[in-house]
Amino acid sequence: GDVAVVIPAAGLGLRLGGGTPKALREINGESILRRAVRTAAAAPSVALVAVAAPADRVEEVVALVAGVSGARIRVVAGGASRQSSVAAALAAVVEALPIVLVHDAARALAPASLFERVAAAVRDGAEAVVPVLPVADTIKRVSTPDRVAGTVDRAELRRVQTPQGFAASLLRTLHAGAGAELTDDAGLVEAAGGAVRCVPGDELAFKVTTPFDLRIAQALAGGTTH
Ligand code: C5P
Repeated sequence: GDVAVVIPAAGLGLRLGGGTPKALREINGESILRRAVRTAAAAPSVALVAVAAPADRVEEVVALVAGVSGARIRVVAGGASRQSSVAAALAAVVEALPIVLVHDAARALAPASLFERVAAAVRDGAEAVVPVLPVADTIKRVSTPDRVAGTVDRAELRRVQTPQGFAASLLRTLHAGAGAELTDDAGLVEAAGGAVRCVPGDELAFKVTTPFDLRIAQALAGGTTH
């Protein structure tokens, strides 16, 4: 394999509620994080998975991912922001793997085929790759919470998922100089004037954010819900 996957999993998941860090919440008996790691590690191109765990839960996460087969797995303490968690996990990738994918643990049901599609586009020469889906709803801008200011042309909008793919050297350089807090890593490439290529996303790669999302994930994963 020529790919390292970096998984930020240190978020609190306040929008999900429940008091436990989101990545440790379960979908039908298997944690969100273990599902994400298991799928990433099963993708044929992936040689290493580096996880940024909640800083006070590193041992627990090590135990959680023990027994996952496929790629090698490494667990480090994450940071206070998503970006610092990505940087911590990236620093744990000491192998000279040319492609790095950054994947939110919260996108627990993203299939191995999506990891392969993103990695293939980087291998094909793209310096940064994002999986995208069209926007189904009409999107409006608001001036105040109850006042519409205009309608956005949704034809030019995309919902962006993870895994996002990068030439490893580029991602390391950009993270070393990163100041602003961004919600994704491709944003670093955009800010540096680089090109970001789109590939088709996968509805299964939706981010588990709210209690409703958790119910959807449970239904999709099959088995009993609890
Ligand atoms: O909160 P949100 O769902 O946008 O977080 C996206 C991903 O970033 C999640 O997998 C979460 O665990 C991770 N994260 C992190 N460290 C933080 C905040 C978020 O690893 N401090």
